Amino acid sequence: TQQTLVLIKPDGVKRNLIGEIISRLEAKGYVVADLKKFTPTKDLLHKHYAEHEGKPFFEPLVEFMSSGDVVAIKLEGHRVIEGFRSLAGATDPTVALPGTIRGDLGRDWGLKVQQNLVHGSDSEESAARELALWF
Ligand code: GTP
Ligand code: MG
Repeated sequence: TQQTLVLIKPDGVKRNLIGEIISRLEAKGYVVADLKKFTPTKDLLHKHYAEHEGKPFFEPLVEFMSSGDVVAIKLEGHRVIEGFRSLAGATDPTVALPGTIRGDLGRDWGLKVQQNLVHGSDSEESAARELALWF
């Protein structure tokens, strides 16, 4: 079985959506193998988002992600990397389909596309790299 890194971002934690989001993962059949809640350092976030370094949204994203607690989840299950991204929906909550976490719960805060509630690793390589960083 596969493992992936899921992050509930500061907007999800501030809006008290931890339970709602984890319920959706468990209802799908995935298992929470490990979990922690803390405010990540900018150093950790720079490493986590290394692929986006230099993009215009990089610094605002790091600022936002370090603005409060996040919940880091080691999520386990058959094809969970692809499956979680399907549950999460499109990056932009405005166009994320109903039925997805971002589509049902995400809000459009103007330019702040980074406030899209969750993160999920996008490949086996990313999952291994990110899980080693966060756990
Ligand atoms: P993650 O699961 O969080 O990695 O989302 P993703 O894979 O759907 O998106 P991507 O890896 O391309 O971008 C990482 C994060 O950067 C996104 O989740 C957003 O929070 C933020 N982001 C991506 N594109 C933009 C953008 O054009 N503008 C802003 N403000 N933020 C962006
Ligand atoms: Mg990504």
